[in-house]
Amino acid sequence: MMAKNQPTPDERPGFAIMNGRLMPYADAKISIMAPGLTFAVTIFEGLRGYWNAEREELNIFRIGAHLDRMAFGMTLMELDGPPSADDFTYQILEVTRANDIREDCYIRLQAYVDEWGDMTATGPVGSSVICRSRPRVSAFEIGKHFCVASWRRNTDDASPPRIKATANYLNSRLAGMEAKRNGYGGAIILNHDGSVAEGPGGCIFLRRGETLITPSVTDGILESVTRDTLIQLARAAGRNVEERKVGRTELYLADEMFYCGTGQEITPMLSVDGKPIGSGEPGPLTRDLQRDYDALVRGHASPGFSDGWLTPVWGNS
Ligand SMILES: Cc1ncc(COP(=O)(O)O)c(C=O)c1O
Repeated sequence: MMAKNQPTPDERPGFAIMNGRLMPYADAKISIMAPGLTFAVTIFEGLRGYWNAEREELNIFRIGAHLDRMAFGMTLMELDGPPSADDFTYQILEVTRANDIREDCYIRLQAYVDEWGDMTATGPVGSSVICRSRPRVSAFEIGKHFCVASWRRNTDDASPPRIKATANYLNSRLAGMEAKRNGYGGAIILNHDGSVAEGPGGCIFLRRGETLITPSVTDGILESVTRDTLIQLARAAGRNVEERKVGRTELYLADEMFYCGTGQEITPMLSVDGKPIGSGEPGPLTRDLQRDYDALVRGHASPGFSDGWLTPVWGNS
């Protein structure tokens, strides 16, 4: 069954870019024997574009950080001659304009081994870029209930979470399915040492007293762009932020918690394993960060550290 937050066939974009060429979305197809499919030899990225209604401008948020991460993943996966950051930047703007998007949207980039090959094939490399309308998720406002999954996070020396490889989402899927089956809105995945890693598609922050805490980049997480943005926003506002190991039982002690990522943005976490977090309602720091994040991504605020983070789609045309 198709997930509710995915576009129906009627809502899919008119155009996609495949191998650098703009084409109808329905024509963008890969081989059924592509190693990108058969052995999950695929690196991808997800970015958001935010509509600024006053200026009638759409800005893509932190293209540079997303493309750096994509480049690292493609290098680690040893893909032959994948598109450059300039190629992808051009294609992101081209496909967004071709679909005439003037509202909040989501962009997905993929680079994979196409055609037919074994699991060590490094080419031919195919790539795709799509952009679709995607409003804010309702959980941004109302939050979600989480559980700790029984599945453990894949490790850096086996299937490194630091790269955004589709293969890593087997682990995410298993945890996410378990949470869904048990009636929760999301999962928290622990490392083999019992410390907190992240969720299936986002990072975790908790507040204890005046301190904002999040697992560090060596704790089995994707080096999240949203996580980095929130750390910088919080520090700029004079808050104390600790990047360190988080124990499972610390989750139950938290005064508030939230889940973050490009797609989810900032989702309040209301309970863990049926135990309410703080008051069981979205916390005050979560609300402050949601407000500051929204101002930043829409171009209503430009703290000193954020130069170059917004790429206008229509202003340059
Ligand atoms: C496993 C995982 N962790 C964290 C994140 C958040 O990363 P970002 O903020 O760069 O979107 C994502 C989102 O794509 C993810 O899939």
